[in-house]
Amino acid sequence: MLSMSEFALYSERRTRLQKKMQQGIAIIPTAAEVTRNADTNYDYRHDSNFYYLSDFAEPEAVLVLIAGDKPQSILFCREKNLEREIWDGFRHGPEGARDKFGFDAAFSIENLEEKLVELMANQPVLHYPIGAAADWDARIIKSREIVKAKARTGIQAPSEIRDVRELLNEMRLLKDFHELDIMRRAAKISCDAHRRAMNITKPNLFEYQIEAELLHEFCRHGARHPAYTSIVAGGANACTLHYVGNHARLNDGELLLIDAGCELEGYASDITRTFPVNGKFNAAQKDVYEIVLSAQAAAIAAAKPGNLWNQPHEAALRVLAQGFIDLKICNGSVEAVIESESYKQFYMHRTGHWLGMDVHDVGEYKIGEEWRSLGAGMTLTVEPGCYIRPADNIPSELWNIGIRIEDDVLITALGNEVLTQAAPKTIKEIEEVMFHE
Ligand code: GLY
Ligand code: MN
Ligand code: MN
Repeated sequence: MLSMSEFALYSERRTRLQKKMQQGIAIIPTAAEVTRNADTNYDYRHDSNFYYLSDFAEPEAVLVLIAGDKPQSILFCREKNLEREIWDGFRHGPEGARDKFGFDAAFSIENLEEKLVELMANQPVLHYPIGAAADWDARIIKSREIVKAKARTGIQAPSEIRDVRELLNEMRLLKDFHELDIMRRAAKISCDAHRRAMNITKPNLFEYQIEAELLHEFCRHGARHPAYTSIVAGGANACTLHYVGNHARLNDGELLLIDAGCELEGYASDITRTFPVNGKFNAAQKDVYEIVLSAQAAAIAAAKPGNLWNQPHEAALRVLAQGFIDLKICNGSVEAVIESESYKQFYMHRTGHWLGMDVHDVGEYKIGEEWRSLGAGMTLTVEPGCYIRPADNIPSELWNIGIRIEDDVLITALGNEVLTQAAPKTIKEIEEVMFHE
């Protein structure tokens, strides 16, 4: 059973959205089940917006909100079905869901089309995630056409369709205490998983064996799934930004880059650590690592209220550019390296993204032409890196060094809180964990 405070939290979110809508009807379906092969599905994952407003994790469900003088929140979900529940597990059913989650009404999903025609009638605006799922687009537009066809009886269909995500994204950008509690716990589990990976890593293991340790640590703390496919990239593989093959052998003398985070209770964590396969950084690895670490520290220091979204990226970039000059892999002044974008040979991504229910979470980065200001309650990653592929103009001791350091950061009233502080990060911390634990 939900506690009273959780119960109120979700209904308060629905009320807040209804107020922002001002008028009209919102229709927010959850995600579809997806076939993996034959009669086997991928693990089910609800739609983040639907879940944010409902706390309801079953598939085949739709939330309808009516705004205005008589606001209503209505759930459509699967009927109870003892035969199916014997095979597939418990279903709340409409009545059970209504009572447990606090909707004003709930109906069988089988009656959705018929009820939507009633509910859409005379609503001026339809708020809907336009384009998120083609099959839902077709169903919703068809329902609206059926309402339109009733014009001669005096019934009007919504004349305007707005993307409800514009309102929802801004709500989700600012995390409440309940979300932050989950995100702190998710971050802690992921920190433990990175520490475990450092503990276990040694030459000649395969990348997937380290991946197994990460998943084990997630799962044994209740985080059944990673928030995204783990990147476990030894040596040159670290220079492939989205490497997820995870099938290579780990070699003595190389680095291992791990970008992995669990999803807990619908919220993502996202951590990258890079460490030596044999537990000891060599001189070239140390030089590059210290540059990325300093860049990250500069970016984290710039992640504070009132600063613009781009300031952490700009801070990281200046440190990286100076570092690339010191390594003699870029030429000229810091300004020239940034202006000419010569740094992009070694740092080709940006320094972070919003983090929340989705690993690359929702929320605008710009308001009009301007980068948006950071504010308390926003959560983001800070993840500079350096990826040096073999090239004639690069000293060979730097070849195939790929380093990224990524933490999850909450903007607070006075500055920030690094949610993933517990994952070893300095050279000293990492070498200690790898040799002494
Ligand atoms: N793990 C995805 C990212 O770092 O953006
Ligand atoms: Mn990230
Ligand atoms: Mn990541």
